[in-house]
Amino acid sequence: MSDRVYIFDTTLRDGEQSPGCTMNLREKVRLARQLDSLGVDIIEAGFPAASEGDFEAVRAIAEAVENAQVAGLCRAMPADIDRAWNAVKDAKHPRIHTFIATSPLHMKHKLGKEPDQVLKMAEAAVRHAAQYTDNVEFSAEDASRSDWNFLVKVCERVIDCGAKVVNIPDTVGYAQPDEYAELIAYLIKNVSNQDKAIFSVHCHNDLGMAVASTMAALRAGARQAEVTLSGIGERAGNAALEEVVMNIRTRPQHYPFETNIATEQLYPANRLLARIIGRPIPPTKAITGDNAFAHESGIHQDGVLKHRQTYEIMTPESVGRAGNDMVLGKHSGRHAIGQKVAEMGYRLSDGDVELVANAVKRLADIKKNIYDEDLEAIVLEEVFRIPDKYRLKHLHIQSGNMDIPPTAAVVMDVDGEEHKMTTFGVGPVDAVFNTISEIIGQKPVLEQYLVNAITGGTDAQGEVTVKIRAGERTAVGRGSDPDIIFASAKAFLNAMNRLAKSVEEAECPVL
Ligand code: KIV
Ligand code: ZN
Repeated sequence: MSDRVYIFDTTLRDGEQSPGCTMNLREKVRLARQLDSLGVDIIEAGFPAASEGDFEAVRAIAEAVENAQVAGLCRAMPADIDRAWNAVKDAKHPRIHTFIATSPLHMKHKLGKEPDQVLKMAEAAVRHAAQYTDNVEFSAEDASRSDWNFLVKVCERVIDCGAKVVNIPDTVGYAQPDEYAELIAYLIKNVSNQDKAIFSVHCHNDLGMAVASTMAALRAGARQAEVTLSGIGERAGNAALEEVVMNIRTRPQHYPFETNIATEQLYPANRLLARIIGRPIPPTKAITGDNAFAHESGIHQDGVLKHRQTYEIMTPESVGRAGNDMVLGKHSGRHAIGQKVAEMGYRLSDGDVELVANAVKRLADIKKNIYDEDLEAIVLEEVFRIPDKYRLKHLHIQSGNMDIPPTAAVVMDVDGEEHKMTTFGVGPVDAVFNTISEIIGQKPVLEQYLVNAITGGTDAQGEVTVKIRAGERTAVGRGSDPDIIFASAKAFLNAMNRLAKSVEEAECPVL
């Protein structure tokens, strides 16, 4: 059996499906490029039949990615498969990933179908997809709660019809690592044509077992792991890419496998995701959290100083946590900024580099040292934001005292037309949000408000993330600025712009 494990990243599909993790098209393309630099083998770019926006994003990713295979997910239905193929066909290495549920529970209550009907649909779907490409993956949704012998039959038939990868998901995160490994071993032993396909695993984290089950299944013979950056995904998420990869790398005797991952890109990739979805990496997150390599207690510090391996099983450098490189300052020219941004993996037009350079200059007037993190925040804000319906022009804040409550005066554009207003609030942030809401004529509920310093130092930029809700719709926005009130205004407007965009998209769905 080959020792090569293929890393299938589904951050842009299963990950993006999780509430509050939606990304716009440019952000998705940027993240896909970062995943490509990380060395993942397959990027699942989305579910093209879900909406026009999903289709366009998958198509754009397919065109942008240089090395990795690009997969589009589709139900086992001809129209879905056609749509997925149209979205991925221009990729250098396109893949169609089709699925249908195989557990008694799903077949009866979700699909309303008998096992034989499901078997026929699976065969027909793979045959249909195989007319377009020989790179077809089939997933048996809720496989871990399916009848093992029915799964054997499904796997044999879809492999006969042309599936090159058969995925056995633990869709609801129910399996325990040892029983999941047993299932994989059983399939490999009993599926008569198993040598013609790779077995893949896809674990959700509902019981906190996603990474453990993935690792156990690899030991049992699976050779593709479906994972997401930071483990984002439906409900409690998926197996975390960085954890699966670093288990393999740190315990080679236990996991004698090879992957194509450039592990020093793990932290940059996860940091980029965190910034895009506006969800900071938790400090104690394995591999990428701020505390993952911090040794606080005296005994540990002493041990590490004497010999690093006393308390360190991997180095921060190996996952790309080499510390803050000071990159730019007041006198950095456009060329240097363009080069630095390109080194970080962004491909920007001259016009975009100019936008970034102007923002760097503005920031450098108030903050001496500009770090990678600052630059990345600027690029995401200046270049990757969705076209703004609402745009902030000026903001003046009065913090308030015994006589007058906090006041915000806002000048902003709404669809290119200037509006001005002044309103009060309980605090300055409340005053800003109230004023913007009055101008827009919509008062969403603020569900989450987070402030995070992008780098160390009292002159660090504050990064604010907000989550707002209007009826059924939610949107996340982020903004950064050395002044956290300004950062709050930018984040709130970014969320309002995303909300407006999602309403617009819902009004012209594709299916
Ligand atoms: O969790 C799951 O079963 C899935 C499949 C569609 C692969 O995401
Ligand atoms: Zn899933």
